[in-house]
Formats: sequence, structure tokens, C-alpha cells
Amino acid sequence: MSHSASQDSPSRPARLRRSVLSVPASNRRALDKLSSLDCDAVIFDLEDSVSPEKKAEARENLRTFFLASPLPGKERIIRINALSSNFGADDLALVTELEPDAVLLPKVDEPQNVTGVSDRLAEADAPESLRIWAMIETPRGILNAASIAEAGRTAGSRLDCFVVGLNDLRKETGVLPQPGRAYLVPWLMQVVLAVSAYGLEAIDSVLNDFKDDAAFEAECGQGRIMGFAGKMLIHPNQIEAANRHFGPDEAAIAEAEAIISAFAEPGADALNVVNLGGRMVERLHLVQAERLVHKARLIEQRSSGAAGTPRSDV
Ligand code: COA
Ligand code: MG
Repeated sequence: MSHSASQDSPSRPARLRRSVLSVPASNRRALDKLSSLDCDAVIFDLEDSVSPEKKAEARENLRTFFLASPLPGKERIIRINALSSNFGADDLALVTELEPDAVLLPKVDEPQNVTGVSDRLAEADAPESLRIWAMIETPRGILNAASIAEAGRTAGSRLDCFVVGLNDLRKETGVLPQPGRAYLVPWLMQVVLAVSAYGLEAIDSVLNDFKDDAAFEAECGQGRIMGFAGKMLIHPNQIEAANRHFGPDEAAIAEAEAIISAFAEPGADALNVVNLGGRMVERLHLVQAERLVHKARLIEQRSSGAAGTPRSDV
């Protein structure tokens, strides 16, 4: 029987989401800066970083910005206010008008928060390419992470990605900020487990102290080891370190290429394990290796100036 790595792989989108920069849609100066920044994705925030008096102006800014600046190569996500608030309905109408890559739902507590929006997008005939991201940032959101992820993957739903929000979670639970995030790690890993079970991705929470480089380096390293695809950022200063930590390094790329070559040897088609310089490598490692090399190629294309981030499943 012949094997193909892509047959075995979960349907996880291979996109770059190392650095996901949030920008208040009310801040035109910051919006104007985006085209010069090297982040993989931008979250245009209409929610907590925009005061109630500025919500309408922020929507208008976004409309103008989307028409003028398509930001090629960057995923564009609009974070809306809760549909239960006074602003949510207008925000969602703007999303269906502007058709960004995704809408980010705040404070998702239960599966219905996602499936409800999925239904509304379908009713509005929004294209399938308009995906849903969910902020997991409440105690109920953490407890229900698996059922939210599961519901999000059922037919008709567009869920792609979870973003952890520790500012809200700390506020709700009383857990204090602390280097190493010891008391938060079990909840963070629960989110990673939920997305892994259903072929989604998770983005780690922001670090508020954008001038504390050492703390940011440490938190990026920790988030990468925990299995997050990238980090939500609040300031351009944080982009370079996030790209470095969440992107594959030279050694990892070389190893992935060696694994791909080993399984491409004549006769290896029928093998599930091979000997790579005295180390057992399994076919499951081939899936990871292919995904990693694909990401490395996307990064290479980006730095060589090729526009667009091709979406494909590896
Ligand atoms: N996106 C794009 N550009 C940004 C930016 C962002 N998130 N944050 C700052 N900048 C720009 C500033 O406009 C400034 O540009 P300039 O050189 O043209 O003047 C430059 O980067 C340097 O900014 P700085 O002076 O260091 O910070 P600031 O006082 O302007 O802003 C914050 C600090 C925290 C208010 C701002 O970074 C911010 O609003 N971040 C996002 C907050 C957010 O989205 N919260 C919700 C999710 S938790
Ligand atoms: Mg929040």
C-alpha cells in the first residue's frame, strides 16, 4: 500500500500566523503604519480598545482603510463587539460588507456563539473564505473550549482559529500576572488540546508590557513550546521576536528536509519507520516535516517580496 503524508494529516490550514497584530480601528495613524509592518496578520479591533463614543468612527475608518489598502500577504481579521451589545449588529454588517479573511468574536463562552454567527454569515451569503476566529478569554470559554472547537468544525461552520485573551481571563479569575504564567499554563494547554483535536490553530495572548523585551522573548519561547501557532501583539516592536520564535529555525528546516528525503528514497514508500542517522523517524514525522517546510517556503516568499500568502492544506 502506498502512503501519502497529506492523506494522514489533519485538515489544518498551513498559513503564517506567527505575529497577529491588534490595532484599534479608531487609530488612523496606526492603521496607516500597517502596510510597512512585517506581521503575518492584523486584527482590526472594534471591541475593547475602542471607546463607545468612537465605535461609529472606527467602523468608518475601517471602511475607508479596506477600500484603500488591501494589505497583500497579510491575513485581515476584524474583531467585533458581542452581538448582545449595542454595537455587534452594526459591526457584523460591516464585516459582511468588507469581507475580510475572518471575523474575530470576543468572549466566546459556548458553541452557540460561533454557530449563531456562522448562520448569520450564511444568511448574508458571505463567501466561504470569510472565516470565524474566537477569543477564548472567559472561564466558561476555557471550560467549553473543546465543545466550541467541535461545533465550529461541523458542516457549515467557518471556525479556523482560537485566540487566548488573558487580560479578560485574569480579570474574571483573579489570577495575577506573573513571569512564567504558572497558574495559567493548564488553561492555555487546554486550549491547545482543543484546537489540536479539531484541526484548528491557537494564538497565544498579548503581553501588555510592550517595552519589556526580555519578558516578551521569554513568553514567545514559552508559547512556541506549548504549541501555539503565533502570538497576538499590541505593538510593532513585538513583531520581529514573534516572527523569529514562531517561525522554523535553520536547524529545524534542515532536519525536516532530511526526513522528507529519507521517505523519498527508493523502497521507502512501503515503510512506516526509517533510520535517520541512528534515530528512528516515523511517517507521522513526515507530516510535520512537510508542514514545516511549507511554512518555511511561505516565509521565504514573503521576504523575497512575493505578494500574497497562498492558502493550502499540507
Ligand atoms: N499597530 C500599528 N501601529 C502601531 C500600533 C499598533 N498596534 N501601536 C503603535 N503603533 C505605532 C504608533 O502609531 C506610532 O507610530 P508613529 O511612529 O507613526 O507615531 C509607533 O507605532 C510607535 O508607537 P508608540 O508611541 O510606541 O506607542 P503609542 O503610544 O502610539 O501606542 C498603545 C501604544 C498601547 C496605545 C498602542 O500600541 C495600541 O493601541 N496597541 C493596540 C491595543 C489593542 O489593540 N488592544 C486590544 C487587544 S488587547
Ligand atoms: Mg478581551
